[in-house]
Amino acid sequence: MASTLPLSEFPELSVDPARLPRHVAIIMDGNGRWAQRHGLARREGHRRGKDSVRAVIDAAREIGLPVLSLFAFSAENWNRPPEEVNWLMELFHRYLMTESRRLMKRGIRIVVVGDKARLPGRVCRVLDEVVAATAGNRAMTVALALSYGGRQDLVRAVRRIAEEVAAGRLSAEQVDEPMLASLLATSGLPDPDLLIRTSGEQRISNFFLYEAAYTELYFTETLWPDFREREFLQALAAYQNRERRFGAIGNGVGRGGDGPR
Ligand code: FPP
Repeated sequence: MASTLPLSEFPELSVDPARLPRHVAIIMDGNGRWAQRHGLARREGHRRGKDSVRAVIDAAREIGLPVLSLFAFSAENWNRPPEEVNWLMELFHRYLMTESRRLMKRGIRIVVVGDKARLPGRVCRVLDEVVAATAGNRAMTVALALSYGGRQDLVRAVRRIAEEVAAGRLSAEQVDEPMLASLLATSGLPDPDLLIRTSGEQRISNFFLYEAAYTELYFTETLWPDFREREFLQALAAYQNRERRFGAIGNGVGRGGDGPR
């Protein structure tokens, strides 16, 4: 039997490394409320949220998770006040500048999903650099969802299919699930097995709409700036206690991690 692999400080929260999800996606929510509760400006919540990003990436890497996706900025987040949008862009920029070496050291590959063209030039440039520099890393993939919307991504993919059909290069009958999936921003990544949302909200909010068809959902009241290694392990442990059936009846497909993807 596979041994359990606790992160050393949390022996009570051991997670079986043989049954890890392949892909965990996280909606990082509650930065603003965290700041409000501490009598601080919203930007302080985001700043502290950045520390949670680092902690969770490190924990995921240590435990051997193959893919982690972080919903950092949604297509709808552009509607926030310009000062907050600018601050978030500044934070992403600073994060990418300062974390690049750390990511390299840990063998982490960064990929981006979302409408990069809407991001400020300086953010785009550093993203391109980090994506290129880490492209050969194999220990773990971190997908940063920036200016991302699931519906927008589906529309973009469908447009491309329509163009191919209109040009006579594709027939409608050739359109199938693998083809659509291959045109999404997440192409090449496994579908998420587990989707975590922090801060008590129980919505998908336009994240991975197509990809999350059979994803296990995990909601926690913890606000993102307080979500660290322990909370991450708790979510993985909860996942490993779920029975995944993928539309079949409850025989043959086992607990989290065992089923067909
Ligand atoms: C949601 O909290 C959070 C965001 C819109 C931004 C997420 C950004 C970070 C976690 C900062 C660092 C990220 C990276 C990748 C370096 P909210 O502001 O909606 O909180 P609220 O619902 O309590 O107002």
